[in-house]
Amino acid sequence: MIQKKMPNFPKELNFNRNGYTFVKIDKNLNKKLILIRKILKNKQDSLIKLNERNYYKEILRLQKQINKKISTSKFFEIYKDFFYEIFKEENFSIQHYFYLRAVKPKKNKNFKPISFHRESFQGPSYFKKMYNIWIPLLNCNNENALKFYQKSHKFIKNKDFKFKIKKTSITKGSDAHQTGLLYKYRELLFKRKIYKKKLFKKKNIILFSGELIHGNGENLTNKIRFSIDARFILKKHMKKNHIQSSTGKEYFISKSY
Ligand SMILES: [Fe+2]
Repeated sequence: MIQKKMPNFPKELNFNRNGYTFVKIDKNLNKKLILIRKILKNKQDSLIKLNERNYYKEILRLQKQINKKISTSKFFEIYKDFFYEIFKEENFSIQHYFYLRAVKPKKNKNFKPISFHRESFQGPSYFKKMYNIWIPLLNCNNENALKFYQKSHKFIKNKDFKFKIKKTSITKGSDAHQTGLLYKYRELLFKRKIYKKKLFKKKNIILFSGELIHGNGENLTNKIRFSIDARFILKKHMKKNHIQSSTGKEYFISKSY
């Protein structure tokens, strides 16, 4: 039996209250991130010159390469004490690979932000219990941070907001779709005036509820912002392993830590 750390209630309370929490990049993870950053540093100047089709083809190739350096299950292994502190759970169903997000500078005409959403907007109803893990890789700062609406993980559809479904320029099953971009999105209309906030802390990972309304916002720098992210759920909340529309494969792998 592995000895677990004593529960850290402030962190857990904070997470439940705000829908997110930060956690420092661990030194074992950082060793892997250094290797990944090296790959991206060498690629970033050539990437920015590519046309849209070749850009996503290359991002998808890099996404596969990065997942060979750090798997989502290895990441959970490294952070098992942190996850235990928050969830008091050892059984997780985890997205089987990380998405690589490569957000181009806003001035680039092919710029495509991921619009504000909840993970449950795409997928079965148990996606309401989903969480996100977001890891900064390269050129991440306050000027290109994720954005969110404060306490929106507690907002109720049709009471606090409504939405309209709209199409994007992404083709279903394309390379861009396989890197996590959406082929349709929901335009949100809030019932009262609310403000976006930045979700970023230097050298920290973000854990946030999939119900926290979030988007990747604009990149106001002149460099591509690289990060990886993955979704997960407590195993007890996974009703059925969902087939992911972009890859046609099972969404989750279940692991105990
Ligand atoms: Fe998301």
